[in-house]
Parts: sequence; C-alpha cells; structure tokens
Amino acid sequence: MAVTEHLLSVDWQLRQPPLLARAWHSWEDSAAAHVGYAAGASPALAGSGLEGSSSDPEADPEVEARLGWPDGTLEVLRQAFALRLGRASGWESSSDSVLAAAGVFRRGVAARRPNSEVASVNEHGNYQIQISSQQPDLTPIGVFTIMDGNVARHWPACVPSGQTLVLTLDEHSKTLESVALIISAAKAGGFSKAKLWRVIGGGLLTDVAAFAAAVVGAQIEFVPTTLLAMADACVGGKTGVNFAPYGKNQIGRFYFPSAVHVWAGWLATLPPREILAGGAECLKHAFLSGDLVLARNLAQALARQDWQALTPLLPAIIRFKVEVVQEDPGESGRRAILNFGHTLAHALESLSQGRVSGELTLNHGEAVGLGIVFALLLSRRFGGLAEADTQELLNILRESGCVVSEENLRQRLGVADLADATVLSELKKFIANDKKNLGGDVTVADWILLQAPGQVKCPSPDHWTVPLPLNVVDLVWPEFLRVICTSPRLEND
Ligand SMILES: NC(=O)c1ccc[n+]([C@@H]2O[C@H](COP(=O)([O-])OP(=O)(O)OC[C@H]3O[C@@H](n4cnc5c(N)ncnc54)[C@H](O)[C@@H]3O)[C@@H](O)[C@H]2O)c1
Ligand SMILES: [Zn+2]
Repeated sequence: MAVTEHLLSVDWQLRQPPLLARAWHSWEDSAAAHVGYAAGASPALAGSGLEGSSSDPEADPEVEARLGWPDGTLEVLRQAFALRLGRASGWESSSDSVLAAAGVFRRGVAARRPNSEVASVNEHGNYQIQISSQQPDLTPIGVFTIMDGNVARHWPACVPSGQTLVLTLDEHSKTLESVALIISAAKAGGFSKAKLWRVIGGGLLTDVAAFAAAVVGAQIEFVPTTLLAMADACVGGKTGVNFAPYGKNQIGRFYFPSAVHVWAGWLATLPPREILAGGAECLKHAFLSGDLVLARNLAQALARQDWQALTPLLPAIIRFKVEVVQEDPGESGRRAILNFGHTLAHALESLSQGRVSGELTLNHGEAVGLGIVFALLLSRRFGGLAEADTQELLNILRESGCVVSEENLRQRLGVADLADATVLSELKKFIANDKKNLGGDVTVADWILLQAPGQVKCPSPDHWTVPLPLNVVDLVWPEFLRVICTSPRLEND
C-alpha cells in the first residue's frame, strides 16, 4: 500500500510567563493571611473527586527534591489556590519557593522580586506534525521512551528494547508524584538532559511526560495513540497535572514538542468508548471551523467505529487546532474558543469523579460531547445561532454516537434523576468555580457560544466568551435532557 504523508509545520512564539500581570499579589505583605489556609482544601472546590490523589503535605519534601524545586514550593501552590489567585495576577516575592511556584501555577504567572522587573523570556520554535499511513519508526537510539501500559500490552512488538518506562496512569495519578517518577527514571538512565524523550500514549501520558520534560528541559517527541491525543492534546504545548483538591491540569507549563508522529493505526486497539471520546473533540474542531462536510464525514466514521475512515479526516482536524494555537499560543485571546463545550463538561466531569469511580466515571471526551450539546442550546438562545443550524449540529453530534444517553449519564453521575434540583445546584457550584471565572463573581459564568458554524460570538472585539448569569443553566437544562433522551448511543458502549 502506498504511504501517504501530511506534514504540518507549526511555528510557535511564546512569552514566558504567558500573560502580563493585570494586578500584583505581594506574598510578603499577605503572609499572615495564608496561615488559615495552610491546611489545604478550599471548601468550594472540595468534591472534585481528586481529593487525596496528590498534594499531600507530608510528601512535599521528597517530591520537591525529585522535581528540583525549593522547599515549600508545593505549600505556596496550595496557598495560591486557596487564595483563588488567577492567571492574570502577578506574584511579588523574594522567596525562591514562591518564584518557582509562579512558574508552574496555572502554566505560569508573572513573578518578580520586590523592586525589580518581571523576569520574562520570549521563546520561539518550530516543529513538524507528521501524519502518516505508516507506523512511525520507534527505534530507540539515544531515546528515553515513556510508554502507556495499555499500548505496551496491545502492541508488545513496539515496546522499545532501550531505556523505556512503561506507565499506566489515570486522572488520580495525573500528579506531580508521577512527574517526579518520570524524572527519576530518566535520571537513572542518564537521560534527564540534552537527550530526546519520546512519549507513546494518550493525552494523559503526553501531558504528564511533557511537563516532566519541561521541568528538566529535555526535548520531547509525541507518538499519540488515542484519537483525542492525535486531534487535540498533542498540539498546542499545554502540559500539566491535576492538583488535589483544586482540580484538573492546574499545575504545568506551556512546552512544545520537537516533533509529533500521528499514525491512526493505533486506533485499531483503542476501546470504542475512547474513540468516541476523541470524536467529540474532533467534532468540536469541525464546528468551530465551520466545515460541516468534515463534521458529517466524521460523524459517519465515528458511528461505524471505522478508524480507517477517520484517517483521511485527521489532517483537517489537526490543522484547525494548529491554526488557532499558532495565533495565540499562551491563551491570551482566541485560543479560548477551543473551550467550546468545556464549561459544562468540566462541571460534569467533576460531579462524576466525586460520585462514582473506575469505569463508571464520565471521561473527558464524553463530558465534552454533552457540553457541546449544552453550548449549542445556549448558543441558540443567547448567541444568535439559527434554529436550522442548531438542529443540524445537534443531529451530527447525535449521529456520531459521541453523546452519551440519558440513562448512561445517570449512571456516570451516580444519580437516579437528572432533573433533581441537587444535581443542578452541584453543577452550578462547579461551573461558578471554573478556571475561566476567577474574576470572583460566582453568579455569572463565561461561555463560548456559536453565532453560526465557524463563527464564535464575540461580545466585543477580542472577547471570545459571553458572560451569562448562572441561572441560565436551570433554563436550558430541561431542553438538554430532552436532546440526550433521543441520543441513539447504545447503553453498553
Ligand atoms: N494538552 C492538551 O492540550 C490536552 C487537550 C485535551 C485533553 N488533554 C488531556 O488528555 C487526557 C485525556 O487523554 P486521552 O483521552 O487520550 O486519555 P488517556 O491517555 O487516558 O487514554 C485513554 C485510555 O486508552 C488507553 N490507550 C491509549 N492508547 C491506546 C491504544 N492505542 N490501544 C488501547 N488502549 C490505549 C490508555 O491506557 C487509557 O486507558 C486528559 O487528562 C486531558 O486533560 C490535554
Ligand atoms: Zn477537551
């Protein structure tokens, strides 16, 4: 069979820290205020389901030593979350632990020592995303490989004979401890600096391993093995881990790979549920780009679980994300549109993680499929999305199988009745605490809305989110339940 190749070249430019400070938080001045928070959990954020999975103060010195961070860095991070500091608040301090924490808090915030300038650097680079019909060459000459445990089990012949760490992680172990483990393994093999790392796995492993590479400054190549990682996680330089109990992907860095090798063949062993999870993010890209031919083709391939039919669609899906992140790598503007569907999705994921465990838990892509349904209904009411467009996009989503059924959602959230008022009030609590809403007002939430396929509603130039009162959730929830009642997805997917 002839080998087909697509090469996407990604240029990136990034200022570190990614955002300018709009306000300054002086750690020295407010030290007394922190004492009350030192024990950790902010009650409003408890129940994220990630409690106890990380951020154990007893373990701090060992984790800090393995990461090469000053003593006290993790405690500063905990205090920053308890103080509800946002990405646009700069940190002023003479303490090394505060400055180190600033570098990774929500992927980096501006920091300075008293009476000095912000230490900022402009970084730039380029990498190629190679999309091939042939499996990439994984010969491990001089490479430290980090491989997903399930990929290693399904593809034993692909486990490199060289220095390889096989890791099976989940959202509970997407932690700084796992970052420390990868760094220790790299050091043990003499691979921590100036050598190439290669990560073979899904978005979870690439997020964690790339953050580890960022911490030690190693180059990293991605070999994504899930649809979600191919279409989304491996493009754009976001790396990071969860930080209990403060939620998902809260600690990290923007850090770009040196190359990405996409081969859809890996999808042959990916469970159908994981294909559909990635499918939701792919459809998101198609809706945002306005390419409804692509969206319909995607829906058909997903409905048939036909990964071979997905292969020719991957370049357009990936190209859309490349284009958006090239324009705004540090997420100071348009990149926010990629959060379409994610406001409700994050709340659903948090609710599910707090109430059920294991296989029953709603995964990210499933939550995104539901979140897009909700965002389309909100777009119809508040974004000017025409009725015909709303129905068309909803039909595409339903046809794809990426929207879990009502019964399935009940199981995933561990509730008997989705219309129950407590479900809604818990969801609204999570929505109000969303990363995007740290302006402090918990009665309003920011949403990405579509005005038309390919056209995001901007309330003013360079504003990509629409603030809406939280009670719009009550208004749209019954419509949302009606839509998912008609989802054709099978219960045992
Ligand atoms: N960095 C980003 O921009 C970005 C974007 C989107 C999502 N994410 C992150 O990605 C993560 C989700 O990624 P994911 O959906 O790829 O999940 P994942 O990495 O957890 O993989 C899903 C499951 O599939 C298994 N698996 C992977 N490849 C396989 C294969 N070829 N055959 C059989 N099994 C295989 C894994 O072991 C795992 O059990 C989340 O943590 C999310 O926060 C990051
Ligand atoms: Zn997502």
